[in-house]
Formats: sequence, structure tokens, C-alpha cells
Amino acid sequence: RRRPFQVAIDGPAASGKSTTAKMVAQRLGFDYIDTGAFYRCVTLAAMSKNLDPSDPSNVQKISDLAFQSRIGLKTIFADPVLNADKTLSTPASLPTTRVFLDSKDVSLEIRTGSISKHVSAVAAIGPVREAVLQKVREIGAREDTGDNHGSDSSSAGLVMDGRDIGTVVLPKADLKVFLVADSRVRAMRRLEELIRNGADPSKENLDLDVVQQDLERRDELDRTRKVSPLRKAADAMELDTSNLTIEGQVDEIVKEVEKRRGVPTQH
Ligand code: CDP
Ligand code: CDP
Repeated sequence: RRRPFQVAIDGPAASGKSTTAKMVAQRLGFDYIDTGAFYRCVTLAAMSKNLDPSDPSNVQKISDLAFQSRIGLKTIFADPVLNADKTLSTPASLPTTRVFLDSKDVSLEIRTGSISKHVSAVAAIGPVREAVLQKVREIGAREDTGDNHGSDSSSAGLVMDGRDIGTVVLPKADLKVFLVADSRVRAMRRLEELIRNGADPSKENLDLDVVQQDLERRDELDRTRKVSPLRKAADAMELDTSNLTIEGQVDEIVKEVEKRRGVPTQH
């Protein structure tokens, strides 16, 4: 049997990677792995032990934590909709991913401002990246025979998003996408998303400038770190989402997958 079709999605913060990746996976019946969640979990584990990631004397302890932490993802895909003419179409609802750290659901906790603030420092630690790479590859191998879509047949493919998927994690991916968007646009989208998920801008120090600064500072750290920095793989297709709708960017990627697979998928 051919190995599952691999789609690698990279790009700067809030460029639309996870939303796009999940919807592409839903459309194609592929599995989805959010690698950023792993770095966020290790950051949460470190912060819970009061280990400041910017203090070099904590590097060893944080690395140990990264290897010890058990991190799990579960993405819940909606069932296809049965139309009156008996054809199936893709549900409009967005799949949701739950994230588990040592069996505890930390899905919301890992998206808070303090985790976002420290995650890039944690992700720059070499052994932390090794630990995450190990876990992600293990899950990827398991997903090859996965049952994420409610059947026991193995899924036809895998969508993974992050910063180094096309360059390091899945260097032989069948399709590599590099998403970009204007940083003001990304900040507006991220702020809306945080508010949608219950953040209160009047209580937390949260406005467009604060969000934009966080994104830009993180991108700078991610681009300039020594180990597997954020960069576009030579063979990646770049997609600027500044003026695209989510459906538009998903369509482009799905079309490209179908072209490369040579078989039209059913929606
Ligand atoms: O969703 P957002 O773009 O804000 O961040 P994320 O994808 O959850 O990633 C959080 C951080 O994890 C990034 O800023 C990177 O520092 C790190 N990361 C990484 O280094 N490599 C990856 N493959 C994924 C994330
Ligand atoms: O995973 P990453 O940090 O790259 O971005 P995301 O969390 O998928 O997307 C950030 C926000 O932008 C989400 O609320 C999306 O709904 C929104 N968005 C988008 O991804 N693409 C558009 N064309 C418009 C909005």
C-alpha cells in the first residue's frame, strides 16, 4: 500500500495554518496534527513548575520535561452532510482539536497570552525540538492506520502544520504550503479569534497593537533561531491569505492535492 498522502503547512503566527489544515483534512478525509500544540504544552509544563524559559539555567530541566510529557491530540471532524439527491457534502462546521497534557485537557490553557509569550523561547531549545519531533513522528506513524474519521480503514492522508514541517518534519511531503499574510491582518484575525474564544480585552492587556507585537516578536524569534528556523521550503507553494477567504485558501490547497494525487476525491 502507498504511504498516506502528506500535506505540510508552514507559515508565521496566525497566518491561518491550523484553520486551513483542519478544513483541508475534513474535506479530504485526512488526519490532522497541530505541532504548535506540542510546543505550547511543553511551555505550559515548564511554567507550571515555575521554570522561566528565558533563563539558560533552566534549559536542562525544560528539556527533560519535554521528553517526559505525554501529549495527545484529538480532532473531532463533523460527519458529511447527506443532501436530498443522496450526494454527500462537507459540513460547514470547523473541526475542533482537543489537546491533552498528561491526560489533562489543556486546549484552552495553552492559548493564553502568557504561553504565547514564552513558547518561542521553549521552541528554540534543541532537545525540546528533538522530543517534539519524536512524539510527532510517532503519532504520524500511528495515524497512518488511524481511525480519526470514525471508520477502521486507514486514512488516505495526513495534514500537519507548524514552522518546520516542510523543511524538517516531513521533508518528503507530497505537498508543501507556506501561508503568509500581512501582519496587521493576522493581528486582527487573531484578536477576533481570542475574543470569540472568550478573552476579555477590557480585563486582559489585549488590543490590536499588543497582539500584532506578540506575533511579530514571535516570528522574529522563530525565523532567527539556530535549530530548524521558520522558513519556506524550496519546493513549497506560497499562498498569501491577506485577501483570501478561508474557503478560498482551502479550495486552492484541495485542488492542488487532487492534481498531485491524480484522483478526484469525493466531497
Ligand atoms: O497558532 P500560532 O501561529 O500562534 O502558534 P502555534 O502554531 O501554536 O505555534 C506556537 C509556537 O510554537 C511558534 O511561535 C513556534 O515558536 C513554535 N513552533 C515551532 O517552533 N515549530 C513548529 N513546527 C510549530 C510551532
Ligand atoms: O494556525 P495559525 O496561527 O497560522 O492561524 P489560525 O489560528 O488558523 O488563523 C487565525 C485566524 O484567522 C482564525 O481565526 C481564522 O479563522 C482566521 N482567518 C483565516 O485563517 N483565513 C482567512 N482568510 C480569514 C480569517
